Amino acid sequence: MSLLLTGIGELTTNDDELGTVTDAALVIDGASVVWAGPAASAPAADAAVDLEGRAVLPGWVDSHTHLVFAGDRTTEFAARMAGQPYRAGGIAVTVGATRAASDDQLTAVVRRHVAEAVSQGTTYIETKTGYGLDVPNELRSAVLASAEVDEVTFLGAHLVPQGWDADSYVDLVCGEMLSQVAPHVRWIDVFCETGAFDGQQSRAVLTAGAKHGLGLRVHGNQLDYGPGVRLAVELNAASVDHCTYLTKSDIDDLASSETVATLLPACDLSTRQPLPDAQSLLNAGATVALASNCNPGSSYTTSMAFCVATAVLQMRMSVSEAVRAATWGGARALRRENEIGILRPGSRADIHVLDAPSITHLAYRPGVPLTYAVWRKGIRAR
Ligand code: NIG
Repeated sequence: MSLLLTGIGELTTNDDELGTVTDAALVIDGASVVWAGPAASAPAADAAVDLEGRAVLPGWVDSHTHLVFAGDRTTEFAARMAGQPYRAGGIAVTVGATRAASDDQLTAVVRRHVAEAVSQGTTYIETKTGYGLDVPNELRSAVLASAEVDEVTFLGAHLVPQGWDADSYVDLVCGEMLSQVAPHVRWIDVFCETGAFDGQQSRAVLTAGAKHGLGLRVHGNQLDYGPGVRLAVELNAASVDHCTYLTKSDIDDLASSETVATLLPACDLSTRQPLPDAQSLLNAGATVALASNCNPGSSYTTSMAFCVATAVLQMRMSVSEAVRAATWGGARALRRENEIGILRPGSRADIHVLDAPSITHLAYRPGVPLTYAVWRKGIRAR
Protein backbone atom coordinates (compact mmCIF):
# COMPACT_ATOMS: atom_id res chain seq x y z
CA MET A 1 0.00 0.00 0.00
CA SER A 2 1.45 3.39 -0.99
CA LEU A 3 1.44 6.45 1.26
CA LEU A 4 1.82 10.08 0.19
CA LEU A 5 3.49 12.38 2.71
CA THR A 6 2.62 15.85 1.58
CA GLY A 7 2.74 19.38 3.01
CA ILE A 8 6.48 18.99 3.67
CA GLY A 9 7.87 22.49 4.30
CA GLU A 10 11.48 21.46 3.71
CA LEU A 11 12.65 18.06 2.46
CA THR A 12 16.32 17.17 2.97
CA THR A 13 17.06 14.28 0.61
CA ASN A 14 20.91 14.03 0.60
CA ASP A 15 20.51 13.17 -3.09
CA ASP A 16 22.82 15.23 -5.32
CA GLU A 17 20.12 15.87 -7.93
CA LEU A 18 17.10 16.37 -5.69
CA GLY A 19 18.95 18.36 -3.00
CA THR A 20 16.68 20.19 -0.54
CA VAL A 21 13.12 20.68 -1.79
CA THR A 22 10.64 23.17 -0.32
CA ASP A 23 6.86 22.56 -0.53
CA ALA A 24 7.69 18.93 -1.09
CA ALA A 25 6.10 15.48 -1.01
CA LEU A 26 7.31 11.92 -0.68
CA VAL A 27 5.64 8.65 -1.63
CA ILE A 28 6.54 5.42 0.09
CA ASP A 29 5.39 1.92 -0.78
CA GLY A 30 6.20 -0.95 1.56
CA ALA A 31 9.74 -0.51 2.85
CA SER A 32 10.88 1.87 0.10
CA VAL A 33 10.63 5.44 -1.10
CA VAL A 34 9.09 5.43 -4.58
CA TRP A 35 8.87 9.15 -5.32
CA ALA A 36 10.28 12.46 -3.94
CA GLY A 37 9.93 16.01 -5.26
CA PRO A 38 7.74 19.13 -5.33
CA ALA A 39 4.27 18.55 -3.85
CA ALA A 40 2.67 20.09 -6.92
CA SER A 41 3.84 17.16 -9.09
CA ALA A 42 3.33 14.32 -6.62
CA PRO A 43 1.59 11.19 -7.92
CA ALA A 44 -1.55 9.82 -6.26
CA ALA A 45 -1.21 7.17 -3.57
CA ASP A 46 -3.49 4.82 -1.60
CA ALA A 47 -3.40 7.08 1.47
CA ALA A 48 -2.05 10.51 2.37
CA VAL A 49 -0.74 12.37 5.43
CA ASP A 50 -0.49 16.18 5.44
CA LEU A 51 2.60 17.24 7.40
CA GLU A 52 1.43 20.87 7.52
CA GLY A 53 4.73 22.54 6.67
CA ARG A 54 7.03 20.41 8.83
CA ALA A 55 10.60 19.52 7.87
CA VAL A 56 11.43 15.98 6.73
CA LEU A 57 14.87 14.41 6.61
CA PRO A 58 16.28 10.87 6.43
CA GLY A 59 16.20 9.06 9.78
CA TRP A 60 19.43 9.33 11.77
CA VAL A 61 21.95 6.61 11.00
CA ASP A 62 23.71 5.87 14.29
CA SER A 63 26.82 4.08 13.08
CA HIS A 64 28.56 3.70 16.46
CA THR A 65 26.93 2.37 19.64
CA HIS A 66 27.76 -0.17 22.37
CA LEU A 67 24.32 -1.34 23.52
CA VAL A 68 25.04 -4.85 24.82
CA PHE A 69 25.88 -4.03 28.41
CA ALA A 70 24.65 -4.28 31.97
CA GLY A 71 25.21 -2.05 34.95
CA ASP A 72 25.91 1.63 35.20
CA ARG A 73 28.99 3.84 35.61
CA THR A 74 27.45 6.85 37.33
CA THR A 75 30.20 6.90 39.97
CA GLU A 76 32.91 7.02 37.32
CA PHE A 77 31.03 9.78 35.49
CA ALA A 78 30.69 11.83 38.68
CA ALA A 79 34.41 11.40 39.40
CA ARG A 80 35.18 12.63 35.90
CA MET A 81 33.03 15.68 36.34
CA ALA A 82 35.04 16.29 39.54
CA GLY A 83 38.29 16.25 37.56
CA GLN A 84 39.37 12.60 37.10
CA PRO A 85 40.48 11.69 33.56
CA TYR A 86 38.63 9.09 31.42
CA ARG A 87 40.61 5.84 31.15
CA ALA A 88 40.05 2.83 28.91
CA GLY A 89 40.18 0.65 32.05
CA GLY A 90 36.63 1.66 33.07
CA ILE A 91 35.40 -0.80 30.43
CA ALA A 92 36.32 -3.64 32.85
CA VAL A 93 33.54 -2.56 35.24
CA THR A 94 30.93 -3.03 32.51
CA VAL A 95 32.49 -6.34 31.50
CA GLY A 96 31.91 -7.69 35.03
CA ALA A 97 28.27 -6.59 35.06
CA THR A 98 27.64 -7.86 31.51
CA ARG A 99 29.06 -11.31 32.21
CA ALA A 100 26.82 -11.56 35.29
CA ALA A 101 23.63 -10.59 33.42
CA SER A 102 21.19 -13.07 31.88
CA ASP A 103 20.42 -13.17 28.15
CA ASP A 104 16.98 -11.71 28.86
CA GLN A 105 18.45 -8.83 30.84
CA LEU A 106 20.93 -7.98 28.07
CA THR A 107 18.23 -8.17 25.40
CA ALA A 108 16.02 -5.86 27.45
CA VAL A 109 18.83 -3.29 27.69
CA VAL A 110 19.41 -3.35 23.93
CA ARG A 111 15.68 -3.09 23.20
CA ARG A 112 15.18 -0.21 25.63
CA HIS A 113 17.96 1.84 24.04
CA VAL A 114 16.89 1.02 20.47
CA ALA A 115 13.34 2.14 21.33
CA GLU A 116 14.69 5.32 22.94
CA ALA A 117 16.78 6.06 19.83
CA VAL A 118 13.95 5.36 17.37
CA SER A 119 11.61 7.63 19.30
CA GLN A 120 14.12 10.43 18.64
CA GLY A 121 14.39 9.82 14.90
CA THR A 122 17.09 7.15 14.62
CA THR A 123 16.12 4.57 12.01
CA TYR A 124 19.33 2.58 11.48
CA ILE A 125 21.58 1.37 14.30
CA GLU A 126 24.93 -0.34 14.46
CA THR A 127 26.05 -1.85 17.75
CA LYS A 128 29.12 -3.64 19.02
CA THR A 129 30.07 -6.53 21.26
CA GLY A 130 32.99 -5.72 23.53
CA TYR A 131 31.73 -6.08 27.10
CA GLY A 132 32.04 -9.87 27.09
CA LEU A 133 35.76 -10.33 26.39
CA ASP A 134 35.69 -14.11 26.56
CA VAL A 135 34.45 -16.55 23.95
CA PRO A 136 30.99 -17.36 25.41
CA ASN A 137 30.18 -13.76 26.31
CA GLU A 138 31.37 -12.23 23.05
CA LEU A 139 29.41 -14.89 21.16
CA ARG A 140 26.20 -14.31 23.10
CA SER A 141 26.59 -10.51 22.76
CA ALA A 142 26.81 -10.89 18.99
CA VAL A 143 23.87 -13.30 18.79
CA LEU A 144 21.60 -11.20 21.03
CA ALA A 145 22.51 -7.95 19.27
CA SER A 146 21.96 -9.35 15.80
CA ALA A 147 18.30 -9.98 16.68
CA GLU A 148 17.75 -6.37 17.77
CA VAL A 149 19.78 -3.95 15.60
CA ASP A 150 20.56 -3.40 11.93
CA GLU A 151 24.31 -4.16 12.02
CA VAL A 152 26.64 -5.78 14.52
CA THR A 153 30.38 -5.29 14.99
CA PHE A 154 32.72 -7.70 16.80
CA LEU A 155 34.80 -5.74 19.33
CA GLY A 156 36.49 -8.54 21.25
CA ALA A 157 39.57 -6.29 21.14
CA HIS A 158 38.03 -3.61 23.35
CA LEU A 159 40.32 -4.09 26.37
CA VAL A 160 42.73 -6.75 27.56
CA PRO A 161 40.70 -8.54 30.26
CA GLN A 162 42.08 -9.12 33.73
CA GLY A 163 44.33 -12.15 34.00
CA TRP A 164 45.55 -11.97 30.39
CA ASP A 165 48.65 -10.55 28.76
CA ALA A 166 47.88 -8.52 25.66
CA ASP A 167 49.54 -10.77 23.07
CA SER A 168 47.89 -13.98 24.32
CA TYR A 169 44.52 -12.22 24.39
CA VAL A 170 45.01 -10.97 20.83
CA ASP A 171 45.71 -14.59 19.81
CA LEU A 172 42.39 -15.63 21.39
CA VAL A 173 40.51 -12.78 19.68
CA CYS A 174 42.02 -13.64 16.29
CA GLY A 175 41.55 -17.38 16.78
CA GLU A 176 38.68 -19.14 18.51
CA MET A 177 36.72 -16.01 19.44
CA LEU A 178 36.70 -14.69 15.89
CA SER A 179 35.79 -18.07 14.38
CA GLN A 180 32.77 -18.35 16.68
CA VAL A 181 31.57 -14.74 16.43
CA ALA A 182 32.22 -14.03 12.73
CA PRO A 183 29.07 -15.76 11.37
CA HIS A 184 26.89 -13.38 13.46
CA VAL A 185 28.47 -10.02 12.58
CA ARG A 186 29.31 -7.86 9.57
CA TRP A 187 32.25 -5.90 11.03
CA ILE A 188 35.34 -6.21 13.21
CA ASP A 189 36.67 -3.32 15.30
CA VAL A 190 39.62 -2.71 17.62
CA PHE A 191 40.30 -0.06 20.27
CA CYS A 192 43.70 1.16 19.06
CA GLU A 193 44.77 3.37 21.96
CA THR A 194 47.22 3.54 24.86
CA GLY A 195 45.73 1.36 27.61
CA ALA A 196 43.99 -0.89 25.05
CA PHE A 197 45.76 -2.26 21.92
CA ASP A 198 48.87 -0.92 20.15
CA GLY A 199 49.29 -0.53 16.38
CA GLN A 200 50.77 -3.99 15.86
CA GLN A 201 48.10 -5.77 17.91
CA SER A 202 45.37 -3.75 16.19
CA ARG A 203 46.75 -4.71 12.78
CA ALA A 204 46.69 -8.39 13.77
CA VAL A 205 43.02 -8.16 14.84
CA LEU A 206 41.90 -6.31 11.70
CA THR A 207 43.84 -8.57 9.36
CA ALA A 208 42.36 -11.67 10.98
CA GLY A 209 38.86 -10.18 10.67
CA ALA A 210 39.39 -9.41 6.99
CA LYS A 211 40.40 -13.06 6.41
CA HIS A 212 36.99 -14.06 7.82
CA GLY A 213 35.29 -11.70 5.34
CA LEU A 214 34.45 -8.99 7.88
CA GLY A 215 34.54 -5.28 7.09
CA LEU A 216 36.89 -3.18 9.19
CA ARG A 217 36.27 -0.38 11.71
CA VAL A 218 38.71 1.19 14.15
CA HIS A 219 38.37 3.09 17.44
CA GLY A 220 41.30 5.46 17.10
CA ASN A 221 42.87 8.75 18.17
CA GLN A 222 40.40 9.17 21.04
CA LEU A 223 42.63 9.94 24.00
CA ASP A 224 45.82 10.98 22.23
CA TYR A 225 47.61 11.04 18.88
CA GLY A 226 48.36 7.53 17.67
CA PRO A 227 48.44 5.00 14.86
CA GLY A 228 44.66 4.34 14.59
CA VAL A 229 43.84 6.60 11.67
CA ARG A 230 46.93 5.59 9.70
CA LEU A 231 46.15 1.91 10.15
CA ALA A 232 42.46 2.33 9.30
CA VAL A 233 43.30 4.12 6.05
CA GLU A 234 46.03 1.65 5.12
CA LEU A 235 43.66 -1.31 5.59
CA ASN A 236 40.74 0.48 3.89
CA ALA A 237 38.56 0.39 7.00
CA ALA A 238 35.05 1.74 6.43
CA SER A 239 35.42 4.09 9.37
CA VAL A 240 37.77 5.30 12.06
CA ASP A 241 35.81 6.50 15.04
CA HIS A 242 36.60 9.23 17.59
CA CYS A 243 39.32 11.18 15.67
CA THR A 244 39.68 13.62 18.56
CA TYR A 245 43.47 13.94 18.19
CA LEU A 246 44.47 14.20 14.52
CA THR A 247 47.76 15.31 12.97
CA LYS A 248 47.82 17.12 9.64
CA SER A 249 49.00 13.89 8.07
CA ASP A 250 46.06 11.93 9.61
CA ILE A 251 43.68 14.46 8.04
CA ASP A 252 45.42 14.21 4.66
CA ASP A 253 45.33 10.40 4.86
CA LEU A 254 41.58 10.44 5.58
CA ALA A 255 40.92 12.94 2.80
CA SER A 256 42.60 10.75 0.21
CA SER A 257 40.85 7.56 1.37
CA GLU A 258 37.50 5.82 1.44
CA THR A 259 37.63 5.73 5.25
CA VAL A 260 35.02 7.87 7.01
CA ALA A 261 36.03 9.98 10.03
CA THR A 262 33.25 9.26 12.53
CA LEU A 263 33.09 11.97 15.18
CA LEU A 264 31.48 11.29 18.57
CA PRO A 265 30.96 14.70 20.19
CA ALA A 266 28.77 13.47 23.06
CA CYS A 267 31.67 11.23 24.11
CA ASP A 268 34.17 14.08 24.00
CA LEU A 269 31.89 16.23 26.15
CA SER A 270 31.24 13.37 28.59
CA THR A 271 34.94 12.61 28.97
CA ARG A 272 36.02 16.25 29.06
CA GLN A 273 38.10 15.86 25.90
CA PRO A 274 38.46 18.55 23.26
CA LEU A 275 35.91 18.38 20.44
CA PRO A 276 37.24 17.08 17.12
CA ASP A 277 38.31 19.44 14.36
CA ALA A 278 35.46 18.77 11.93
CA GLN A 279 36.19 21.83 9.82
CA SER A 280 39.75 20.78 8.97
CA LEU A 281 38.46 17.35 7.97
CA LEU A 282 35.70 18.79 5.78
CA ASN A 283 37.99 21.43 4.23
CA ALA A 284 40.49 18.72 3.33
CA GLY A 285 37.73 16.69 1.64
CA ALA A 286 37.33 13.87 4.17
CA THR A 287 33.91 12.29 4.71
CA VAL A 288 32.62 12.98 8.21
CA ALA A 289 29.95 11.05 10.13
CA LEU A 290 28.41 11.88 13.49
CA ALA A 291 27.29 9.11 15.85
CA SER A 292 26.10 8.86 19.47
CA ASN A 293 28.59 6.25 20.77
CA CYS A 294 25.87 5.30 23.23
CA ASN A 295 27.57 3.27 26.00
CA PRO A 296 27.47 3.32 29.81
CA GLY A 297 31.02 4.64 30.22
CA SER A 298 32.05 7.43 27.90
CA SER A 299 28.83 8.62 26.23
CA TYR A 300 25.50 7.60 27.73
CA THR A 301 23.12 9.13 25.22
CA THR A 302 21.07 7.91 22.27
CA SER A 303 20.38 11.45 21.09
CA MET A 304 21.65 12.09 17.58
CA ALA A 305 19.94 15.50 17.73
CA PHE A 306 22.20 16.40 20.67
CA CYS A 307 25.25 15.38 18.59
CA VAL A 308 24.03 17.49 15.67
CA ALA A 309 23.37 20.54 17.87
CA THR A 310 26.81 20.17 19.48
CA ALA A 311 28.47 19.84 16.08
CA VAL A 312 26.85 23.08 14.96
CA LEU A 313 27.11 25.13 18.14
CA GLN A 314 30.52 24.02 19.31
CA MET A 315 32.32 22.43 16.34
CA ARG A 316 31.26 25.08 13.83
CA MET A 317 29.75 22.65 11.34
CA SER A 318 26.88 24.16 9.37
CA VAL A 319 23.45 22.66 10.09
CA SER A 320 23.46 21.04 6.64
CA GLU A 321 26.92 19.55 7.20
CA ALA A 322 25.93 18.19 10.61
CA VAL A 323 22.62 16.72 9.42
CA ARG A 324 24.33 15.14 6.41
CA ALA A 325 27.04 13.68 8.68
CA ALA A 326 24.40 12.17 11.01
CA THR A 327 22.45 10.60 8.14
CA TRP A 328 24.35 10.06 4.86
CA GLY A 329 27.75 10.17 6.63
CA GLY A 330 26.68 7.38 8.99
CA ALA A 331 25.37 5.39 6.04
CA ARG A 332 28.70 5.85 4.25
CA ALA A 333 30.53 4.74 7.40
CA LEU A 334 28.51 1.51 7.10
CA ARG A 335 29.03 1.40 3.33
CA ARG A 336 25.27 1.60 2.74
CA GLU A 337 24.95 5.16 1.43
CA ASN A 338 22.86 4.12 -1.57
CA GLU A 339 20.18 2.50 0.62
CA ILE A 340 19.90 4.53 3.83
CA GLY A 341 20.61 8.10 4.97
CA ILE A 342 19.10 9.29 1.69
CA LEU A 343 15.54 9.87 0.45
CA ARG A 344 15.03 9.14 -3.22
CA PRO A 345 13.24 6.48 -5.24
CA GLY A 346 14.64 3.09 -4.25
CA SER A 347 16.03 4.10 -0.86
CA ARG A 348 14.74 2.59 2.39
CA ALA A 349 11.71 4.46 3.75
CA ASP A 350 13.48 5.72 6.88
CA ILE A 351 11.85 9.08 7.49
CA HIS A 352 12.16 11.63 10.28
CA VAL A 353 9.59 14.42 10.55
CA LEU A 354 10.48 17.38 12.77
CA ASP A 355 7.90 19.45 14.58
CA ALA A 356 9.62 22.47 13.03
CA PRO A 357 9.72 24.06 9.58
CA SER A 358 13.43 23.50 8.90
CA ILE A 359 16.48 21.50 10.01
CA THR A 360 17.97 24.75 11.33
CA HIS A 361 15.73 24.30 14.37
CA LEU A 362 17.87 21.30 15.41
CA ALA A 363 20.58 23.78 16.45
CA TYR A 364 18.40 26.84 16.96
CA ARG A 365 16.36 24.97 19.63
CA PRO A 366 19.02 22.76 21.28
CA GLY A 367 17.77 20.21 23.78
CA VAL A 368 14.15 20.48 22.63
CA PRO A 369 12.66 17.15 21.51
CA LEU A 370 11.68 18.02 17.93
CA THR A 371 10.82 14.56 16.58
CA TYR A 372 7.19 14.60 15.38
CA ALA A 373 6.95 11.32 13.45
CA VAL A 374 9.21 8.47 12.35
CA TRP A 375 8.84 5.81 9.65
CA ARG A 376 11.38 2.98 9.86
CA LYS A 377 11.55 0.67 6.85
CA GLY A 378 8.17 2.10 5.84
CA ILE A 379 6.50 1.32 9.16
CA ARG A 380 5.30 4.14 11.39
CA ALA A 381 7.51 3.88 14.47
CA ARG A 382 6.37 7.03 16.23
O1 NIG B 1 33.89 4.25 22.11
N1 NIG B 1 36.69 3.87 23.39
C1 NIG B 1 36.32 2.76 23.58
N2 NIG B 1 35.10 2.27 23.75
C2 NIG B 1 33.98 3.08 24.12
C3 NIG B 1 33.98 3.34 25.56
C4 NIG B 1 33.54 2.23 26.34
C5 NIG B 1 33.45 2.43 27.81
O2 NIG B 1 34.10 3.31 28.43
O3 NIG B 1 32.72 1.61 28.35
C6 NIG B 1 33.97 4.37 23.31
O4 NIG B 1 34.07 5.46 23.88
